[in-house]
Amino acid sequence: MTFGYWLLALLCLALLILSVVLTSVSVVERTQARSLAALEPLIAQADAASARSAVVYFSRSGNTALAARYLANRLQAPAFRLQEQQYPLGLPGLASALKGAHVGKAVEQALGQRSQQALDISGFDTLYLGSPIWLYSPAPPLWQFVDNHRFDGQRIVLFNTYNSHFDARYITELRRRVMARGARSFEHVTVLRGRMPRQIGAPAMLATIEERWLERD
Ligand SMILES: Cc1cc2nc3c(=O)[nH]c(=O)nc-3n(C[C@H](O)[C@H](O)[C@H](O)COP(=O)(O)O)c2cc1C
Repeated sequence: MTFGYWLLALLCLALLILSVVLTSVSVVERTQARSLAALEPLIAQADAASARSAVVYFSRSGNTALAARYLANRLQAPAFRLQEQQYPLGLPGLASALKGAHVGKAVEQALGQRSQQALDISGFDTLYLGSPIWLYSPAPPLWQFVDNHRFDGQRIVLFNTYNSHFDARYITELRRRVMARGARSFEHVTVLRGRMPRQIGAPAMLATIEERWLERD
């Protein structure tokens, strides 16, 4: 057998392993999204005109969305979900998420370039901005939101759900952009969920949010 044959066989094996891993991740994500969607429904959409805080978030598989709904209910704050059709659940959406996160970081400026829905957030004192971590960084829709809005005089609290690691340099860069757009302060809070298949469940996530995010306020 030639070296070329072995190389081809190894390549096929690597592709097979990759597709099994991505398919398993995709199935777990879909199952999680379905069960999380039923939890912590928004009590009532708070009156945006009188609320002091608001929650703006992006979520693909429902974990950050659960955190956002919990915050909104506890703070009696309106919640705005960033709508992003590009990253649906399923294999193509997962591939697109990996590509989007990778491309965004390869050209740092590109993270914020695409247009994003405009929200009127000027009346709020505190904004909670939520996103999953993708490839060690908050996901592209959150960068796009930051780059397309101003935060004059506002307290910004970035919240992330993630499985294992993020890179503090991306948080520092996000902070720089938020402060350059007028924010008066920036904080960062997280929920570490753990790697698949040993992830914490929703009750533990919400307990962390209650203890570590809200008790500081
Ligand atoms: C494309 C992609 C990349 C990810 N990259 C990371 C990563 O670099 N570090 C990490 O800890 N988790 C990573 N994760 C896991 C997510 O951050 C985690 O599952 C998060 O809670 C998902 O939030 P969501 O359910 O609101 O979409 C990644 C997930 C996806 C889909």
